[in-house]
Amino acid sequence: MTADPQAVKQRRVRDGVGFFRTFLKSPGSVGAVLPSSRWLARVLVGRLDELEPGDLVVEYGPGTGPMTAAIRAALPDGVRYLGIELDTGFHELLERRFPTLDFHHGSAADVTAILSDRGLPMPKRILSGLPFASLPAAVQSNVVSGIVDSLRESGGEFRTFQYVHAYGLASARRFRALMRERFASFERIGPIVRNVPPAFVLRYRDAR
Ligand SMILES: C[S@@+](CC[C@H](N)C(=O)[O-])C[C@H]1O[C@@H](n2cnc3c(N)ncnc32)[C@H](O)[C@@H]1O
Repeated sequence: MTADPQAVKQRRVRDGVGFFRTFLKSPGSVGAVLPSSRWLARVLVGRLDELEPGDLVVEYGPGTGPMTAAIRAALPDGVRYLGIELDTGFHELLERRFPTLDFHHGSAADVTAILSDRGLPMPKRILSGLPFASLPAAVQSNVVSGIVDSLRESGGEFRTFQYVHAYGLASARRFRALMRERFASFERIGPIVRNVPPAFVLRYRDAR
């Protein structure tokens, strides 16, 4: 990605417009009107330096790639990455924008089958941009089952974000309740107020 500030600004505006168009087509599965900021991306990704060569990081719902860029910058040598994106247009954009990373076009609900088909190990980190609060209850619980099944085996960690304004919604609370039943350890970071809109980062460990 270029470091020219003018080009970076233009790309952010183009991404914002493209993202908003996709939101208008599929508001439920996109679940946000703008891509995440670099500030939210950095906190969500956190430190990856304790990962070892051969470990796997999986990203759910990379969209236009703000979290992906932060992951790529933090990914230690030899640690593998797979992004899983449902939207065809975003999937094509990600493949063009991040030619050194792998992306699967499909649903995060199928994570264990996707990893097994690709001969990949269970992930040490799942970093998610999925709009859990706007996903139908059945999709939400299938995605949670996939997260738990894969992280229980690897001893890995799950991170996601929820917007402050939507944190109290019944669907957002249902997601957190489901996760609290399945993970022994939970931490809430933030809010990240420089993101528009402000968001909390949620961190879950010790799947059971
Ligand atoms: C809120 S946007 C976040 C995009 C990006 N991570 C960011 O932070 O700007 C949600 C993304 O999840 C994708 N998505 C929705 N449901 C999905 C699913 N079941 N599996 C994989 N991706 C999904 C959408 O297409 C969209 O790219």
